Amino acid sequence: MLKEIHEQPESLRSTIVPRIKNKQLPDFSTDEIPDQVFDNVNRIVIAACGTAMHAGLVGKVMMEKLLRIPVTVEIASEFRYQDPIIDKNTLLITISQSGETADTLAALRLANKHQAKTLSIVNVKGSSIARESDYVLYTHAGPEIAVASTKAYTAQLSCLYLVAYHFALIKGTISETDCMRQIEELQSVIPAVEKTLTLADDINKICETLAEKEDLFFIGRGLDYALSCEGSIKLKEISYIHSEAYAAGELKHGTLSLVTEGIPVIALATQSNVYNKMISNIREVRAREALVILITNGDSEVDSSIYDYHIALPKLSDNMAPFTTAVVLQLLAYYTSVHRGLNVDQPRNLAKSVTVE
Ligand code: M6R
Repeated sequence: MLKEIHEQPESLRSTIVPRIKNKQLPDFSTDEIPDQVFDNVNRIVIAACGTAMHAGLVGKVMMEKLLRIPVTVEIASEFRYQDPIIDKNTLLITISQSGETADTLAALRLANKHQAKTLSIVNVKGSSIARESDYVLYTHAGPEIAVASTKAYTAQLSCLYLVAYHFALIKGTISETDCMRQIEELQSVIPAVEKTLTLADDINKICETLAEKEDLFFIGRGLDYALSCEGSIKLKEISYIHSEAYAAGELKHGTLSLVTEGIPVIALATQSNVYNKMISNIREVRAREALVILITNGDSEVDSSIYDYHIALPKLSDNMAPFTTAVVLQLLAYYTSVHRGLNVDQPRNLAKSVTVE
């Protein structure tokens, strides 16, 4: 897992760079995805499982922001047994590292039956999901062996961003100049992820404390909420610590009663539009004597009385912060598991590819 975490600058480079062509704009011609795929699309449905579904949560925020059309993220195992409202004007995006996840494949087949357009973001070449989709955008993450998905997740994010930018250009909801600027920002993620990896030793030290805990919370708003979901699953699956991801504003509607002295709260505060709201939420948990691990985008000046540990990410635009945040969350899960003496790569009860229901 550690090897795969450290491969992320390379997997991001391989996934992003070949899709940026003339004038630094997204180009899917090598992927044989014609612009017409996006004609008449009035709704996007993203269906996936686990970490791939969490990538979809980030994709939804980015796509709705850029495209101004509704995007829903569906847990594939739920979607397949509902009676989904999809038709030929729906674009169904499935996301899967293995390309063989049974529920995701079933969601894709259901969409095909309803004549929706289907686009898959898949890592394994020639896998079932890739074969049965109208179009495929491969993540070039290379083989991912550890059960916990890491480099596939960030590569999936980069593909979702590229789809959002490309589609927005075609729809005319973004100008070429703005798109070029954002594509430049997307490329700046690669050195920023490299820099984030140098925080590994600091993160390792924090994990000595986390390894002794049995429950913890991840909180965030907007993109940070989507990342909280991913941080929580990553920690659970390899450290066996119970954790929950909460949209920070929801805490006081019930969950705050569980926040007591010494409970770790990993607070993601990378989004400037909700930064002050997040700080208020952190004060709420701090008042209950939670152990706060604060993650910010850049080294913003924060009142040091509200946290125990502060991880300052290399400064990126708000939209790009998910990439560096993801790396920190992966390292937190990894080192916590190591401190608990567990098998990081093959956690109990889990398989890398879930090909049965
Ligand atoms: O191969 P897939 O991406 O379709 O797999 C989906 C999930 O099973 C997978 O992401 C799982 O949640 C990971 N073990 C999480 O790290």
